[in-house]
Amino acid sequence: MILKDRREARKMIVAIGCDHGGFVLKSAVGKFFEGRAEVLDLGVLTETPVDYPDIALATARTVSDGKAEIGVLMCGTGIGVSITANKVRGIRAGVCNDVESARLGKSHNNLNVLCMGGRVISPGQVEPILGAWLDTPFEGGRHLVRINKIAAIESSTFSMEGEEGRVVVFNHPLVQHKIGIIRDKNTSVKEFRELVQEIAGLMVYEITRNLSLTEIRVETPVAPTTARTLTGKKLAVVPVLRAGLGMVDGILQLIPNAKVGHIGLYRNPETLEPVEYYCKLPQDIGERDIFVLDPMLATGGSASAAISLVKKWGGQKISLVCLIAAPEGIEKVRGVHPEVDIFIAALDNRLNDHGYIVPGLGDAGDRLFGTK
Ligand code: RB5
Repeated sequence: MILKDRREARKMIVAIGCDHGGFVLKSAVGKFFEGRAEVLDLGVLTETPVDYPDIALATARTVSDGKAEIGVLMCGTGIGVSITANKVRGIRAGVCNDVESARLGKSHNNLNVLCMGGRVISPGQVEPILGAWLDTPFEGGRHLVRINKIAAIESSTFSMEGEEGRVVVFNHPLVQHKIGIIRDKNTSVKEFRELVQEIAGLMVYEITRNLSLTEIRVETPVAPTTARTLTGKKLAVVPVLRAGLGMVDGILQLIPNAKVGHIGLYRNPETLEPVEYYCKLPQDIGERDIFVLDPMLATGGSASAAISLVKKWGGQKISLVCLIAAPEGIEKVRGVHPEVDIFIAALDNRLNDHGYIVPGLGDAGDRLFGTK
């Protein structure tokens, strides 16, 4: 088992990074991985003081992006770099300044980033710590259940670092189940349409979780009591034509008094830029919480243009609600409208050369309306 792990470790790529406080350990870490793994050194290269979050973030992102399988971070204690690395999606970083922590950190927590402190341990302790980490298998079983719970927290409240608005990925099992069905190319138009409505409804149920309530008095057939009612919150849903239409009814079933605006955009074949051909929004749009609806956030071009239009009409409190998003689309919208919350049911891998989300579900408009 140990031999097998070592053989696999040889093919691995490990990202390493440290600040001035961890620099003293770095060459021992490099030496440990010689012949076992390819090392991506994210710095620092001297003992000049730096801010550990910068190095830790770059190293953790290298692991979360899949450019390295694992990471090793060092600062004075290992604490600062581990706090930072754990802010990155998919990272399980832990401080291991002794062999037992490294062993249990792997078998129980499946640490993918190991953190050590140059002011806590000496270079001579690095080798047994890293050895214990690499040679210990993850136990799975009940520990897998636990780290999946951590992943669920992350997915349901995932916010990108350093931005004002949130990017929230819904990890609710019902949402995920239904997304799985609409991804299937064999799902019928009828079923696809129904499921898009259901998913939109489930998402809005969560999105409106924080609406404020006011107490009122009512009389039940049995006794008077205090009940709660929504505090006159005004909402508007704004589908981007045409695919956004598929989400409207699912939301109106839950919020029947929401007003509905419509935005139509086409893509200029020469510039490839979205051009408005229709826009009708509620007159009091400035006072409403607005949900812009577009099932697929691909390049982000039309979603950004739609949000800009809503702003031009006076809209202020805007959220974007999509079923499936590509990272490129999220980046684009956040670049143009950093304050806008983006709610999605699934974050996919990438766009292909034709601008389709991979794996995605194809063209949502065609699948909703049966036009292909
Ligand atoms: C830097 O002086 C020190 O604070 C840093 O290396 C680390 O220990 C932070 O957690």
